[in-house]
This record gives sequence, structure tokens and C-alpha cells, in this order.
Amino acid sequence: MSSDLPALPRFAIAIDGPAASGKSTLARELAKRLGLVMVNSGAMYRAVTWKALQENIDPADDAAVIAMMDRIDIHCGEIGMKSTCTIDGVDPSNELRSEAINANVSAISAIPEVRDRLVQLQRNYLDHTSIIMEGRDIGSVVFPDTPFKIYIDADEDVRAARRAHVGEVDSVSKRDAADSERITAPLKIADGAVVLDTSHHTIESGVTAAIEILKQQGLPEI
Ligand code: DC
Repeated sequence: MSSDLPALPRFAIAIDGPAASGKSTLARELAKRLGLVMVNSGAMYRAVTWKALQENIDPADDAAVIAMMDRIDIHCGEIGMKSTCTIDGVDPSNELRSEAINANVSAISAIPEVRDRLVQLQRNYLDHTSIIMEGRDIGSVVFPDTPFKIYIDADEDVRAARRAHVGEVDSVSKRDAADSERITAPLKIADGAVVLDTSHHTIESGVTAAIEILKQQGLPEI
């Protein structure tokens, strides 16, 4: 039986910010509250980095990485309310937080051909669902027209401590410098984004502050 109800317009909430700023935690909590699919775009860049390392491709060798991109099948979708990607049929999500991937993902994600392919996959989500997507260029490049944009920040020492707390080896400041200084789609505060500094927020108070920002940006009553 077909419904007479008009389809609700789909929308994207863009959450950007530097490494360990708290954007994943915040996006995950917001997604739960709002009943939205949460897409972790960093996981896509990490998955491509994982594949390159598996194939012994030097992440600094752009031509080799681009040739790999032409060969591989990437499928992204969601399981439940969480995004997931497979590369050549394999889901590498349990292997994406290694020191080797942390050290090489910025080089891979600076390659425009890698970005073009992943940005297309990111935009495809809106073909079938509303989303909250976190990354570096979501408000500036992937969904520049969305009115819902938050840039999450936190003091550098707070960010480094958060990584150390989960036992991860990750040179946050080095990665941030590379991600901010690259030519294509660098990390920046997108036009229209509101900055939320999570340094002194708990998860709960951060979520409350983010919901307030989204309401001001016109998100319907939650
Ligand atoms: O969010 P994350 O730390 O897991 O992201 C890993 C890397 O992926 C990050 O250092 C840069 C890259 N990235 C990107 O270039 N653009 C995005 N939208 C998301 C991540």
C-alpha cells in the first residue's frame, strides 16, 4: 500500500574538526538522539590507507595509489545506524586505528583522486537517508549547502591526552598540520559553521551545546 504522506526532505549534518577533537563521540551521540545514520568519513580514508599498506604501496607514491584506486571496488552503506565500507569485499573496520594507518592516512587523503572518489561515496548516502557525517571537509566540500554545520575544536593538550587515554599512538599535531596545509579540501572552518570547543565539556554538555547550535541553524524541534 502506498503512503499519501509526502517524503521528508533528506538532510546532512556536517561535523568537522581536527583529530581527537571529540567529533566522533559527539556525532555518534547526536546520531542516537536524532535517529540519524552516522557516517565516519575518516574511516573511508583509513580504509583506503589500509588497502594501500596491505598491497605494499608507498602512500607517498601518488601514481601508485591512484592506480590502486582504479583497481579496487569500494562499497559504502550502513549496518543499523552506522556507516560501513568494504574494499574488494573485505570490511577492514577493526583494523583502522593502527599506528601505521595513523602515520600514513594524511598522505593518502591529500591525493585529489582519492578524495574525488570518496566524496562521491559520501554524497551518495543522501540518495537514501539523512545523515550526520563527521570529517574534515564535510561542511566545506562534501555538503557545502547544508545549513547544519558545526566545527568541533579542543585544546591541543586535551586532544593529545584523549588519544593517549585510549592507548593509541597518533601524532595528532603532525596529522592536523598535514590535513590543514594540504591543497585539496584542507581542514578549515566551513562558511556558516559554528565553532564548538569541547575542551571543557563533558559528552553530555557537548551534546546539549551541539543541539542548541543545530536548532539555531534551523533543525526542526528535536
Ligand atoms: O577522523 P579521522 O582522524 O579518523 O581521520 C583520519 C584522516 O582522514 C585524517 O587525518 C584526514 C583524513 N580525512 C580527510 O582528509 N577528510 C575527511 N573528511 C575525513 C578524514
